Amino acid sequence: MRRPLVAGNWKMHGTRASVAELIEGLRRQSLSGDAEVAVFPSCLHIAQVVEGLAEVPVVIGGQDCAVEPQQGALTGEVAASQLREAGCAMVLVGHSERRLSLGESDEVVVRKFVAAQACGLIPVLCVGETLAQREAGETLVVVGRQLAAIVDAQGVGVFARAVVAYEPVWAIGTGLTASPEQAQEVHAAIRARLAAQDADVAGKVRILYGGSVKAANAAELFGMPDIDGGLVGGASLNADEFGAICRAAGN
Ligand code: 13P
Repeated sequence: MRRPLVAGNWKMHGTRASVAELIEGLRRQSLSGDAEVAVFPSCLHIAQVVEGLAEVPVVIGGQDCAVEPQQGALTGEVAASQLREAGCAMVLVGHSERRLSLGESDEVVVRKFVAAQACGLIPVLCVGETLAQREAGETLVVVGRQLAAIVDAQGVGVFARAVVAYEPVWAIGTGLTASPEQAQEVHAAIRARLAAQDADVAGKVRILYGGSVKAANAAELFGMPDIDGGLVGGASLNADEFGAICRAAGN
């Protein structure tokens, strides 16, 4: 039985004031505990969120980490060990906004994934195809390649301490959501690829869906057999909306 996870990716949003409001809003939510809840603030706001949500069962994560696990001379980067020390338990790796806008390769994503685990963080590996790739019928090839980068380098066993997030690029921030059936097809394919090497690991790994998840479509998506929760962008900036999504995952 996989415990659902709902994760809010705040991206490059927030001021100290708006983050304080969001913290207050999250503290007011009744979260059943059936679903695990996580938020990924910008690095600047991690300390504020760790402090503000100290008594609330919400996991804090970073949005990215350096390829080098330990602190050192790497201007502008944040080490996984620093995230851990700041109170993070998870970190996103390979988000499409970084792969596409910043040219992050599979090779770099693998190094970040390894750095995260080396420091005791759970990496949330983001995978997903662009619209052009979907229209060319390449969805499963693209996602398979992104997954294989980790499996080939590190073995399937590392997914015992990781989360996968399927985020079709065309559904991110566009209001277009993959239908539950479209998402389920990819989630099942991801699980089957892992199961081909280790059925136990594949059966336990949580695979989140991301891309325009909101309270109105969450229950339907989370009702699919291989969708174990969501990675939520825009809707996670509204505490009531995010709370409703978390409750949909707990039911
Ligand atoms: P939206 O929910 O805003 O589409 O963003 C999804 C996402 O990229 C989460 O990482």
